Amino acid sequence: MIEVKDLKFQYNETDVALKGISFTVNDGEWVSIIGHNGSGKSTIAKLLDGLIEPTSGEIIYDGEKLEQKNVSKIRRRVGIVFQNPDNQFVGFNVKYDIAFGLENHQVPREEMIELIDKYTKCVDMNEYLEREPESLSGGQKQRVAIAGILALNCDIIILDEATSMLDPEGVFEITNLIKELHTKYNKTIITITHDLNLAKESSKVIVLKDGLIIKEGTPDEVFKERDILLSSNLDMPFGLKAYYLASQDEKVNKNKELMDALWEYHFKM
Ligand SMILES: Nc1ncnc2c1ncn2[C@@H]1O[C@H](COP(=O)(O)OP(=O)(O)OP(=O)(O)O)[C@@H](O)[C@H]1O
Ligand SMILES: [Mg+2]
Repeated sequence: MIEVKDLKFQYNETDVALKGISFTVNDGEWVSIIGHNGSGKSTIAKLLDGLIEPTSGEIIYDGEKLEQKNVSKIRRRVGIVFQNPDNQFVGFNVKYDIAFGLENHQVPREEMIELIDKYTKCVDMNEYLEREPESLSGGQKQRVAIAGILALNCDIIILDEATSMLDPEGVFEITNLIKELHTKYNKTIITITHDLNLAKESSKVIVLKDGLIIKEGTPDEVFKERDILLSSNLDMPFGLKAYYLASQDEKVNKNKELMDALWEYHFKM
């Protein structure tokens, strides 16, 4: 379990990115963090992975407070996939890209080949082992990043806008892979996203605004808060957009049955 308690973070004297946020993530849970640009989402990801230290407050992994002395142990458990697939691809081909991450975590060479083989199969990239990054799509590069995380046996995976630079096909591929990581591999998942289609698949949604949590609940509970979503500048799923447009149309919104039906439909789309 991850416990975040009254977490504050300030980049400098003027930029207060997080103003005291608390939440928990249970083992095997899928939590989405949504919110407008600059609301503090990526700062949370960096703090969770120990890349930066909180100004105050704490992050506790299974009862153990994240500190300088255990940061490398905890980082071994927490894998992050970032937004830009090109920035995180470091090897000259798929095989070496994953090997590089394993080497950083002192995985013995003999184990590497087996791990690379096994986990590129999981993400359906096993036939691309010798391929160079230039010849891969964004979605394929993100799948390689995820294979690298799986090979390290991380039990917590944070995806910071990992689908936002992908084409629709890439978004579809990675969304399905995230679902699989959650259901089949029982990973704890934190998706940071503008995409409500992705957020609606998670078990819990946290809405951030100006460094504070303004709403937390199931997707169903959170998506009902129209003003929150509108003020958060999020990409709404088509069905939800249709519901909100209808709710603003006085000719339609008085028909409660129709509005209820539209609300129900959006979950099925
Ligand atoms: N390196 C930095 N130095 C100073 N201020 C920063 C730095 N990185 C982020 N900030 C500020 O901290 C706040 C939170 O930024 P953060 O990157 O966490 O937001 P975000 O919710 O991830 O935004 P986006 O949706 O654009 O990715 C913003 O006001 C931002 O300007
Ligand atoms: Mg960000």
